Amino acid sequence: MNQEVAKFSRLGFVLSATGAAVGLGNIWKFPYITGVYGGGAFVMVYLVTILLIGASLLIAEMVIGKRGQKDCVSSFEELAPPRRKGWKYAGFLFVTGLVIMTFYSVVIGWIFYYIYLSFAGLPTTIEDAKEVFDNLYGHAPFLQISFHLISVLFVAVVLLGGIKKGIEKTNLILIPFLLFILLGLLAYATGFDGFGKALAFMFAPDFSKLNSEAIIRAVGHSFFTLSIGIGSIMTYAAALPKHSNLYKAGLMVAFMDTLIALIAGLVIFSFLFEFGGTPDKGPGLVFVSLPVIFAKLGTAGSVIALVFFLAMAVAGLTSAISLVEPTVMYLEDRLGWLRKKAVFWSSLLYFVIGVLVILSISDGFKAPLTFGEKSLFDLLEFSVDSFLMPLGGILIALFVGYVMKREIVEGELLGHMGKWVFRIWYFSIRYIAPVAVLFLAYTALNVE
Ligand code: PHE
Repeated sequence: MNQEVAKFSRLGFVLSATGAAVGLGNIWKFPYITGVYGGGAFVMVYLVTILLIGASLLIAEMVIGKRGQKDCVSSFEELAPPRRKGWKYAGFLFVTGLVIMTFYSVVIGWIFYYIYLSFAGLPTTIEDAKEVFDNLYGHAPFLQISFHLISVLFVAVVLLGGIKKGIEKTNLILIPFLLFILLGLLAYATGFDGFGKALAFMFAPDFSKLNSEAIIRAVGHSFFTLSIGIGSIMTYAAALPKHSNLYKAGLMVAFMDTLIALIAGLVIFSFLFEFGGTPDKGPGLVFVSLPVIFAKLGTAGSVIALVFFLAMAVAGLTSAISLVEPTVMYLEDRLGWLRKKAVFWSSLLYFVIGVLVILSISDGFKAPLTFGEKSLFDLLEFSVDSFLMPLGGILIALFVGYVMKREIVEGELLGHMGKWVFRIWYFSIRYIAPVAVLFLAYTALNVE
């Protein structure tokens, strides 16, 4: 048993939890789905969900971790009343983190490749850019595996350092760096005419563009982007000092995450509108449309491309760390493994499955790794979005809302929130969040 858990500093926790939340979801996925679903109205739904459900669930997840002080399984077990210890199995929601990593790390690998391209030369026409991306995506498994391996190794090295010397230190350096780059890019983009168009696109809602699929996507994305339901935030919160204010920390993380998504969106759309791209290009938006625009700007463009992809890599890696840590902590706490051994085996596991994920989209290897219409890549991503994360979210809401003693929950929050905010929050956890999650999962399964 590893009883001597190192604690985060307050800033260390907020930056690390922000690092967990801010990821590819913010810089890659948010802009492209906003583009696909038509802008303003979609952004509104996303913002409302974060406010009404997302932030509440984030705080609830923090309460379990902070009170339990242990790995997810032990925390659920500890906080469940005597006859309901079966709830400890809910703690296995951390497995989702490794499932996510099997494709998340692959996408981080693509970003490494684009960092390399900003030196080696970016594609200059849309046709070239498509070809570059298609070649990587479908035809270069070994290149992808190599980059995937670099990402796995980076995460493993940080995890070996533990909470203080690994996770906290990395985030204390990388998150300010990420903010600095994004604010710099934003300042640059405000000089464009395209900036005004980007503002209008993102903030002037046109509700005729909103359909049920867009709503599901917005709600689902608000979970993904806040890292809810897989134990990342819970595990970080387990290393919080005693008197931390979870209310403030939760709001801060939700705020930072939203802010960074909005900045990333504004930057990307400003470039697009300024240089004549269209916003609805889907997942290829940052890998196909943007590089061509950057290439048009000559040397300055290469520098911008470099810092942009660096920022994206940083966002991805700091999330990746939080996706694996819950598993490592479980193996240490419950099975008594040394951290080294825990990091080695969990990294190896998702590395190997990640290789299969890469092969599942590569010509020549696809067939045995395709199930029905879906490649292993799509299948895993789909199961995370529409099943595993909603499941984790609902378990957390039910546990904090109905299973944990109200006094314990109050003890963590009441003093900081005050009576009324607490009541609203508790209502949201007991009623709004579970219903919304069920609705989301049900509809998502019927739409795809
Ligand atoms: N929130 C991260 C992102 O936006 C992804 C993530 C999900 C990280 C769940 C940790 C836990 O990319």
